[in-house]
Amino acid sequence: MKVILTKTYEEGAQKGAEIILAALKNKPDLLLGLATGETPLGIYKRLIEAYKAGEADFSRARTVNLDEYVGCREEDSYRKFMFDNLFDHINLAHDSITIAGHKADPGAEVSRLRGFFERNTVDLQLLGIGPNGHIGFNEPGEALEALVHVTPLAEATVQANARWFADGAVPTQAITMGMGDILRARSILIMIKGESKRGVLRELLHKTTVTTQNPATFLHLHPDVTLIAEESLT
Ligand code: GLP
Repeated sequence: MKVILTKTYEEGAQKGAEIILAALKNKPDLLLGLATGETPLGIYKRLIEAYKAGEADFSRARTVNLDEYVGCREEDSYRKFMFDNLFDHINLAHDSITIAGHKADPGAEVSRLRGFFERNTVDLQLLGIGPNGHIGFNEPGEALEALVHVTPLAEATVQANARWFADGAVPTQAITMGMGDILRARSILIMIKGESKRGVLRELLHKTTVTTQNPATFLHLHPDVTLIAEESLT
């Protein structure tokens, strides 16, 4: 695992954006795996700036999102988050975007997305992390699922994500890429932001054991992972 420690979040977001922009330059039809949450916002801001400055062209790129809530309102969906914070501001073709439907039948979405991952390999997967070590919505537990699946959200996740919902009512289920889908990406970029992630970050940095109780530790099994975090969290 390549570790980049930065003085500030902004510096880390800049480095993350540079890695994505370099990958896009190298492969204009890049399949980019995307994450939601607070962590990637600084990266998305810089991707938009690069596009507006004529330094990035997303016209041939494709994206797939890690996860989506099941049965949430449009305004609370990760789909809307992605359009508001990235897709509406760059020249990515809308038919190049893959994201689970928050209103669609979850079983049908699981089949559709499993098919997608049978046919496509993610070139670069961007990840955040939950305070409990979840990646996507692969929650800690006795076992982890390899493929796209519907999952109940851990109580810790419902609490951590309540801040995004005006009424505090977080959906209790989500569709997520499985651990195998994530680990099959050609390269992975994980950014870790926030005091609540200190414990899981330390476990990643100071141990090389893999445990289903901290799903992010499975990244130790991947040959090309870059981790970006603030020095002060380590
Ligand atoms: C959600 C998403 C994760 C994300 C996590 C962290 O649970 N499913 O993919 O990494 O939130 O979010 P934040 O970056 O806001 O801390």
